[in-house]
Amino acid sequence: MISYIILIIIAYLLGNISTSTIVAKRMYNVDIRTQGSGNPGSTNVLRTLGKKAGAITFAGDLLKGLVAVLIARMIARFTGVDETTAAYLAVVAVVAGHNWPVFLGFKGGKGVATSLGAMIGMNPVIALTCFGIFLVIVFITKYVSLGSVVGIASSPLFMIATSNKKGILVTLFLTASAIYTHRENIKRLLNGTERKIGQKNK
Ligand code: G3P
Repeated sequence: MISYIILIIIAYLLGNISTSTIVAKRMYNVDIRTQGSGNPGSTNVLRTLGKKAGAITFAGDLLKGLVAVLIARMIARFTGVDETTAAYLAVVAVVAGHNWPVFLGFKGGKGVATSLGAMIGMNPVIALTCFGIFLVIVFITKYVSLGSVVGIASSPLFMIATSNKKGILVTLFLTASAIYTHRENIKRLLNGTERKIGQKNK
């Protein structure tokens, strides 16, 4: 039990590391929360600070998701607790840490890159399939938010195919979180005012 608690805390704290805030402040002396959509995520960094900063932010947020799950797996192997349960708990904790970070007043990002990284650590085939769906939707529509929500929302459907109940629950959590964090994007998509990828801030 203590192993699970430790790995949850580690994953949650890793999720608290806001790549976008660090990149924007350290490299460009900009507070990303006051720019564009105000979201501390790679899409907003891309539109505000350009491709390089956007790519670094995406990679950093993805990596922390993946690292959280790999650390959880390692702790499970050392302590003998169930590795799959450990990985699932880390997925939930790292995404919760990114979306609702205690050190940033519970105002975090939307959890897309971190969900992808965590899902790669959990089930790479499902993760990369969802990422493929994301890419196709963004390529066709130019809406990152639409690709993000649909890509993540596909994950429970693929998980159902594996008949893994805990996996289904975890991906349902990711889906509910993505819909909640993208609620303003969804409103803008419905009324036709959502920003397209690369659209500069006015
Ligand atoms: O992952 C976030 C993206 O889907 C939307 O970001 O800045 O357009 O609200 P943003």
